[in-house]
Amino acid sequence: MSDRPQPITIEARPSQPRTPVVEISPEEIAMLVDRFYAEIRRHPRLGPLFEARLAGIWDMHLERMKRFWRSVLLHSGEYSGQPVAKHNALPDLREDDFMIWLEVFETTTDSLFDSQLSASILTVARRIARSLWLARFGTPFSQAPAWLS
Ligand code: HEM
Repeated sequence: MSDRPQPITIEARPSQPRTPVVEISPEEIAMLVDRFYAEIRRHPRLGPLFEARLAGIWDMHLERMKRFWRSVLLHSGEYSGQPVAKHNALPDLREDDFMIWLEVFETTTDSLFDSQLSASILTVARRIARSLWLARFGTPFSQAPAWLS
């Protein structure tokens, strides 16, 4: 065998098939995100919380949230970000705000989709809300409230 360095070969694993979590199209996700944030912006409690961070950059937020939901529901892999750090940095966020968020989200999914699809999306949203809530408000001695489970 020669002393010359042997070429290194790296084999990539074949990518996993992308299985959608729920049966929903990218267009329906776009509709959900647009409709949800239109409601949020009108909401007397949550509207100002969002506006404080997103005034002037709403279009960017909506595009980011569409990527987020496509990644979550369709496993598209398009989203990268820091949701925990971003929510932990919101100064006026209160524990019950997550309940209001979920109520507005549920009203939106119910108005757009059949009950089965709406329930599946809501289950995923509640799971993420729970982990954001725990990251922000949880302690080793506290549990998430019942409305988050
Ligand atoms: C009361 C509850 C919530 C409030 C007030 C809130 C508010 C906000 C605000 C103001 C931002 C923009 C932050 C920034 O760009 O600095 C943001 C980003 C985001 N939110 Fe929420 N949010 C809430 C709950 C949720 C929930 C339940 C989810 C998921 C199911 C979620 C997902 C996200 C994501 C993915 C981002 C983008 C983070 C990034 O990558 O920059 N939020 N939220």
